Amino acid sequence: MRAAIPLLFLLFCVQTESQRNETAVPVVHTQLLASAELKELRDMVVELRGTLRYKLKSLEAEHAAVKAEMKMEVDNLKKELASRESELAALRTRMAASDAWIDDLKVDYAEQEAELTAVKTRLDATESEVENLEKEIKAAPKVAFSAGLGNSEYIQAGNTDLNVVFSKVITNVGQAYNSITGFFTAPVSGVYYFRFTVLDHLARRRAMGIRMFKNGQGVVWLTEADSDGVSTYLIGGLTLQLEKGDAVNLVITAGSRLYDNDDNHSTFSGFLLFPLSTP
Ligand SMILES: *[C@@H]1O[C@H](CO)[C@@H](O)[C@H](O)[C@H]1NC(C)=O
Ligand SMILES: *[C@@H]1O[C@H](CO)[C@@H](O)[C@H](O)[C@H]1NC(C)=O
Repeated sequence: MRAAIPLLFLLFCVQTESQRNETAVPVVHTQLLASAELKELRDMVVELRGTLRYKLKSLEAEHAAVKAEMKMEVDNLKKELASRESELAALRTRMAASDAWIDDLKVDYAEQEAELTAVKTRLDATESEVENLEKEIKAAPKVAFSAGLGNSEYIQAGNTDLNVVFSKVITNVGQAYNSITGFFTAPVSGVYYFRFTVLDHLARRRAMGIRMFKNGQGVVWLTEADSDGVSTYLIGGLTLQLEKGDAVNLVITAGSRLYDNDDNHSTFSGFLLFPLSTP
């Protein structure tokens, strides 16, 4: 094949020479040479064409294969891209969900903080209230008493009422009860509770009466006409609103008799429930 190239070139030169000078003698010789070589050349060309066709086909096949491969690769890349995209979308969805969750948490947190602040405020208010109450309790006067008749055995009223002096002091916080006069005097304005339990012992068909007075004004009056001749108790009590300086005492009505001994059968008690500020 390669040997054909200088031959082809020589033929070309000869032909050119003959064309340039028509009178040239070696034309016939040259033509003979050409037809022999030409056949060879044509064969060569045919062979060459075959080879080229084959090459072309294999190139085409190769190209198709490369193309197919490329297409496959592109398809794979596309698939991968699609899967990446869907992964990204899923991630975005999850991120959005977690954002919403975080927002919810923030709202919850804010609500809890507000609640806590409210509770703190209430606690502070309660604390100051408790402090005020403590102060009030400390400042409030403490008044409570109980006193018995003592071991006087009997006291007896004549034709008139008799003021009862409970001389055996059992309790006397605030010293508002006077065990010599038998009078309670309110040290502050407020609401007080008073009660009494008194006994007449071994009475036979004897009437018995006891009254409570506030500033000389009767507030309760109990009576009993005993018939069993053993023991008669009269028990009473009531709540009184007193101004500072008001006095409370007990009186037995004419003809009544009271009894007491170490057992404290006959007692008078009272205490301040709560003070009231006078307007
Ligand atoms: C052509 O051939 C003639 C005769 O041999 C010669 O005289 C002439 O110079 C040639 N022409 C060229 C262009 O070579
Ligand atoms: C009566 O009261 C006095 C004084 O509080 C007390 O000491 C005594 O024990 C009381 N008597 C009885 C029987 O409880």
